[in-house]
Amino acid sequence: MEKIVKPYTVLTGLYDNLMEYVDYEGWSEYILDIIDEYEIDTNSVLELAAGNYKLYQFLRGNFPLHIVSDLSLNLVKTFHERGDKSVCCDMKSLPFNTKFEFIYCTFDSINYLLTEEELFFAFNEVSKVLKNDGVFTFDASLENNSINNVKELNRKGKYLNYDYSQISEYNVEDKIHTNKFIISNDNENYIEIHRQRVFHFVDYFRILDDAGLRVIDCFDTFTFDNASPDSERAQFIVGKI
Ligand SMILES: C[S@@+](CC[C@H](N)C(=O)[O-])C[C@H]1O[C@@H](n2cnc3c(N)ncnc32)[C@H](O)[C@@H]1O
Repeated sequence: MEKIVKPYTVLTGLYDNLMEYVDYEGWSEYILDIIDEYEIDTNSVLELAAGNYKLYQFLRGNFPLHIVSDLSLNLVKTFHERGDKSVCCDMKSLPFNTKFEFIYCTFDSINYLLTEEELFFAFNEVSKVLKNDGVFTFDASLENNSINNVKELNRKGKYLNYDYSQISEYNVEDKIHTNKFIISNDNENYIEIHRQRVFHFVDYFRILDDAGLRVIDCFDTFTFDNASPDSERAQFIVGKI
C-alpha cells in the first residue's frame, strides 16, 4: 500500500540524486553576474524556496546577511543537520521584519504557486520585504519547457536505499505540469505528487505590477538576451514601482 505524502517529504532523501544533472555552480555564477550587472547592494540577501541549498553551497560567504528559506520542513531539517540555519516558511506569507536588498528564487520554484492569487500573494510578500531600491530575481518555467522536455523527466532510478520512478505529464488545457514520484524506501512505498502551474509569459508582468513590482528586464535564463513567450525559462529582474 502506498502512502501519499506532501511534496519534498520522502523526496528530500533523493534530492541530490534527482538534481545531479543540474549545474548549480554555473547557476550561482549567473546569480552573481546579475548582481554585478545591476550593481545590486548585497548586505542583506534572502533566498526563497532554497530546496536542498545547492546554490547556497556556492553563494555562502558572499553576503553579510544571507537568509535561506524553504517551505519543506524536511529540507530545512536536513540543512540544520549539516550545521547551517534556515527558515521554514511559505513564500506567500513571509515572516521577516527586516528588509532585503536582494531576493532570489530559482529553478521553477515560482511554478509551485498554482493560481494567479497565490502568485500575487507571493509577489506582494516580496514587495513588503524588498528595500525600495532592492532587486528580486526569479526564473519561471514556460510552456515550451514543459512541452520540449517532459519526456526526459520520465525516469526510474536507485539511490542509497531508495527505488523510485518519476512520471511527468503536462496538461495543455489546464496548464499544469505534474510530476508523480513513486518511491520505495526501507520496505515502505510512498507517492509524492508535485503540481506546477505554467503561467503565460505576460501574466507575470501583470501580476507583478498588481503587487507593486516592475520588471526591469526579462531574459532567457542563463543569458542576458531578452526572453519572449517562446522561451523555455524566463529570468525576471524585478524592482519596486
Ligand atoms: C524545484 S525545487 C527548487 C529548489 C531550489 N531553488 C533549487 O534550485 O534546487 C522547488 C522548491 O520550492 C519549494 N516550495 C514550493 N512551494 C513553496 C512555497 N509556497 N514557499 C516556499 N517554498 C516553496 C519546495 O519545497 C522546493 O524546495
